[in-house]
Amino acid sequence: MSEEYILCPNCHQPVSGQERYCAHCGADLAVAAALEERGFPLAEALRGENIPLAPEVLVPRLGEQLVREGVIDEAQLQEALAYQQRQALAGKPCLLGQALLSLGFVERETLDRAITEQILQLQAALEQANRTLEQRVAERTAELQAALQRLTQLNQIKSNFISNISHELRTPLAHIKGYLELLAAEMLGELNDEQMQAAKTALRSTDRLEKLIDDLLQFSLAARGALSLDIERFDMAQLARQVCLQADALARLKVLQLDCILPEKPCWVQADSEKIEWVLNELTENAIKFTPEEGRVIVRVACGPEIVEISVEDTGIGIPEERIAEIFEPFHQLDETATRRYGGTGLGLALTRRILEAHGSVLKVRSQVEKGTLVHFSLPSVS
Ligand SMILES: Nc1ncnc2c1ncn2[C@@H]1O[C@H](COP(=O)(O)OP(=O)(O)OP(=O)(O)O)[C@@H](O)[C@H]1O
Ligand SMILES: [Mg+2]
Repeated sequence: MSEEYILCPNCHQPVSGQERYCAHCGADLAVAAALEERGFPLAEALRGENIPLAPEVLVPRLGEQLVREGVIDEAQLQEALAYQQRQALAGKPCLLGQALLSLGFVERETLDRAITEQILQLQAALEQANRTLEQRVAERTAELQAALQRLTQLNQIKSNFISNISHELRTPLAHIKGYLELLAAEMLGELNDEQMQAAKTALRSTDRLEKLIDDLLQFSLAARGALSLDIERFDMAQLARQVCLQADALARLKVLQLDCILPEKPCWVQADSEKIEWVLNELTENAIKFTPEEGRVIVRVACGPEIVEISVEDTGIGIPEERIAEIFEPFHQLDETATRRYGGTGLGLALTRRILEAHGSVLKVRSQVEKGTLVHFSLPSVS
């Protein structure tokens, strides 16, 4: 094994790392290293003066302590300090302890005991300071935790507010919708063409409002982490068939071709069927909404032994690659005029993502501007 050399922090000569004292200046290497590490100012002051680094340099005011303890008297201390000065002038600087020893005022044993005691006292003071510091850290941590809790509570109040308001809005809306349906069905008397048109337009608007309130409610629940799943075994192919049937009218209205490529046999999955239906509806509606006339939308369910792949593809306006992450932000639409042009509020995909996440699934998006978009997710299949 090769011997490791270090530089003595006192005289800067190379010394063996195995040694306790510097072979050149006699400094205690452990003490020197400790001082060096802590950037002890005394070490700086002593550096270059060739004063041996001994445990004594860790003890401030050793002379005063020895006087206090009655080991030496004041006159002896003054004499030792004068001796120290003379030695320094003669180019042989020494520490006070060494001066006291040379003058025969103290025994080595007494000096060592006094130094050790002083070091132990310093250590105790340091430990006390550490404890105080730890206590202050604990207090600050508790304050931060309390602040975090307050924030969480505020968030909760905000979410509760949205869900309460949503409930409050739904009841009167149900009355408005009910009467409009009665009017449109001419149960309250015959309507002329203009009145019929007005009733139907009002009915369509209440549908939109209802969807928005539902989305808001779902979103506030999901934001609270209160998205509870009602897991059951169901046939994914059958569910997609139902979604396609509903979307068909919408597609016809926009003169779009809607193709549903679904397995003939049942395709069993274990999930919350209502929420998955909502998701597939949302994805199909988006595809229809963002695809111009004459375009094509394909809803696919591919049933594998392990997983069931569900996808919706369109030949629509597409999404720029660098903006794909944005489409999942709540209340965010890529085209600011979209609400006017396409309707909606930008909540659909934010909710979709949360619902799929709760199922342990993710929505993947592939898109090309003006070519189209493919969104897909998977669920584990069950027998
Ligand atoms: N198939 C798609 N083709 C092109 N852009 C899409 C498609 N699906 C979503 N987007 C873009 O992502 C945005 C967010 O979609 P999201 O479904 O969250 O909101 P929305 O459909 O605008 O409103 P909402 O779903 O609340 O009725 C859309 O406004 C649109 O810019
Ligand atoms: Mg949408």
